[in-house]
Amino acid sequence: MNHTEERAAQTIDHLATSVLLFDENLHLVSINSAGESLLSMSSKRILGLPPEKIWPNTMFFSDMIRKSFQFVRTRIERGVEMGLINRDSVKVDCIFTPIVINDETKEIIVELVGVDAFVREMQEFNHQTVQKVANESVQGMAHEIKNPLGGIRGAAQLMEKELDDESLLEYTKIIINESDRLRNFLDRMMAANTHPVRSDTNIHEIIEYVISIIRVESSRNINIEKDYDPSIPTINADREQLIQAVLNLLRNAVQATTDDERILLKTRIQRQITIQNKLNKLAIQLDVIDNGPGIPAEIESGAFYPMVTGHAEGTGLGLSIAQQLIQSHGGAINYERKENNTYFSILFPIDRNNAE
Ligand SMILES: Nc1ncnc2c1ncn2[C@@H]1O[C@H](COP(=O)(O)OP(=O)(O)OP(=O)(O)O)[C@@H](O)[C@H]1O
Ligand SMILES: [Mg+2]
Repeated sequence: MNHTEERAAQTIDHLATSVLLFDENLHLVSINSAGESLLSMSSKRILGLPPEKIWPNTMFFSDMIRKSFQFVRTRIERGVEMGLINRDSVKVDCIFTPIVINDETKEIIVELVGVDAFVREMQEFNHQTVQKVANESVQGMAHEIKNPLGGIRGAAQLMEKELDDESLLEYTKIIINESDRLRNFLDRMMAANTHPVRSDTNIHEIIEYVISIIRVESSRNINIEKDYDPSIPTINADREQLIQAVLNLLRNAVQATTDDERILLKTRIQRQITIQNKLNKLAIQLDVIDNGPGIPAEIESGAFYPMVTGHAEGTGLGLSIAQQLIQSHGGAINYERKENNTYFSILFPIDRNNAE
């Protein structure tokens, strides 16, 4: 292979689209990494095989590849249900392109794009954008309310000193107390907006500290199990912010469970994982899992937005703050409901170069 060919081969191997090449005997002669991952089969196992062996459950591919030799033109098919040997079927868009040399079709290129994965990525991207806009407008509003609020509180204090009638003091007290309550609320909203101050941080030490806070906060018996990966290295993170994020998730799990339900805190290393559209060589995954009822359906899609709550007394800031704090470290928090368990998973990049 000369340099140009080598570059071309490398490029094809880095494509997100799966690319397969079949020769005139209908044997697979080449497959890129995306193809191996979509089909869940290594190139070693399938190179040289005909389409019937690669897709034994979906005759569509053999038919299309055969037809492509006859018709000599590119064919596009959308939303094909592709049955696979090693995994559940996936829906794909496909392009079949014949390579014609001297009026003879020599090879067929098959391009496949997983539709579900694409739709999911788009949804995630839209979700992140809406969340960012919602957070920014709430932060801006909080900032604008704080200044006049300081004025109102100050004036009430001055008035308190001037008042001779004791019965009126009750009103100034209400103004001062309610201003303080509002100020606390605004401070909480704005806290997530500060830049992380990083140092070497041990995730398990953070989790243990958060558990100790939770135990002090609550008088009831909370059933917490742990499943730590001891090989996890320290991360470069803002300790206080990480505590806040984990605390918000654990508090929610405690609120969602009763005495006979349980919470599991699980840590693992993840390799080659995409977070915030960046590929990370190594990341920590911390799952806060509980077997409570999960996020109520009516707020599920907006639970990470500020001021969305399922509790009468909730402020709806916990998840949005946790998400902002983890995102400013280059990480993300995902929610999933699996087998009657609620999963909140923090993904945190380990490689410093990947973090902001
Ligand atoms: N582990 C969980 N199980 C079930 N529902 C949850 C869980 N975590 C969050 N929720 C739902 O998501 C909502 C939003 O959570 P969030 O932490 O943002 O706000 P909050 O808990 O209502 O108020 P705050 O955390 O500000 O005191 C919760 O009110 C709850 O309905
Ligand atoms: Mg909460």
